[in-house]
Amino acid sequence: LKQGNGVKGLSEMGLKNLPKQYIQPLEEIISDAKITPQASIPIIDVSKLDGPTVAEAVCRAAERWGFFQIINHGVPIDVLENVKESTHRFFGLPAEEKRKYLKELSPSNNVRFGTSFSPEAEKALEWKDYLSLFYVSEDEASALWPSVCKDQVLDYMRRSEIVIRRLLDVLMKNLKVTEIDETKESLLMGSKRINLNYYPICPNPELTVGIGRHSDVSTLTVLLQDDVGGLYVRGDDDYWIHVPPVNGSLVINVGDALQIMSNGRYKSVEHCVMTDGSKNRISIPIFINPRPSNKISPFHEVLASGEKAAYKEVLYSDYVKHFFRKAHDGKKTIDFAK
Ligand code: SIN
Ligand code: FE2
Repeated sequence: LKQGNGVKGLSEMGLKNLPKQYIQPLEEIISDAKITPQASIPIIDVSKLDGPTVAEAVCRAAERWGFFQIINHGVPIDVLENVKESTHRFFGLPAEEKRKYLKELSPSNNVRFGTSFSPEAEKALEWKDYLSLFYVSEDEASALWPSVCKDQVLDYMRRSEIVIRRLLDVLMKNLKVTEIDETKESLLMGSKRINLNYYPICPNPELTVGIGRHSDVSTLTVLLQDDVGGLYVRGDDDYWIHVPPVNGSLVINVGDALQIMSNGRYKSVEHCVMTDGSKNRISIPIFINPRPSNKISPFHEVLASGEKAAYKEVLYSDYVKHFFRKAHDGKKTIDFAK
């Protein structure tokens, strides 16, 4: 693999066939036969999020599907367009520029350019490059993040903050958590990570994945995707639901941390990304997480009625470590809290 140019470099060499390290077991590929056209992820207009109908729709979607899209969310369209453009700018940099952020060379553990997910643990690689940015402060971001995208990424994070808080408020009220004090705020949104994902055109999309099956370890994930498509969410039984690109929307999903804190009320659902044979795709998830030093467990408000705790207390940094040690091969990290 050309150091610093990732899978994008391979794709641009014009390969006729997928290199064999990327060939996934057949059961990891979402073929048409496994996709249900019957079900879809709700699209919710959140302009009146404080009203009972919208709040109800959000909570039902988080319970039933673990995924929904929001429109009229208040993040300006140009902020979304700018961050997508800056993502293309980053991946369009020459290899020498990108390789500065490889694990061994990056000035900080909080800034990492990479390819696939955990190549050491994976039997087959994923057809994806990424830049992963752990947010500590505006100052650190300004000093360390790549200059071709940092302003646009920071702007997107800042502007999406309001709707994230409102969604969490609504989800908490539904659990009878009426006050988000400092401790709860830290548990729900004490840290943030943002990924810029690049899925290059794939010579054999029927043989590999962009990201294998996993559930997120976040509280909530806010995902901006472009118009290519390829994100699939597990529905009931063994069928998959495509999350179609909707102009101006953001995809929201529940992560394991929120499933644990809600004692299973909100579902962190398995998902994966298939590759495309004719288009490069980008996506930009913001992971809203507990602070690494937090211990997470079901909220006492949820257990107040006598419900039994389905998860034990875990240190969030241990939980995340556990997630990053394994390949993407299904929703398994949560067993660590059982
Ligand atoms: C992810 O699951 O982390 C990314 C999803 C996507 O690219 O749509
Ligand atoms: Fe994910």
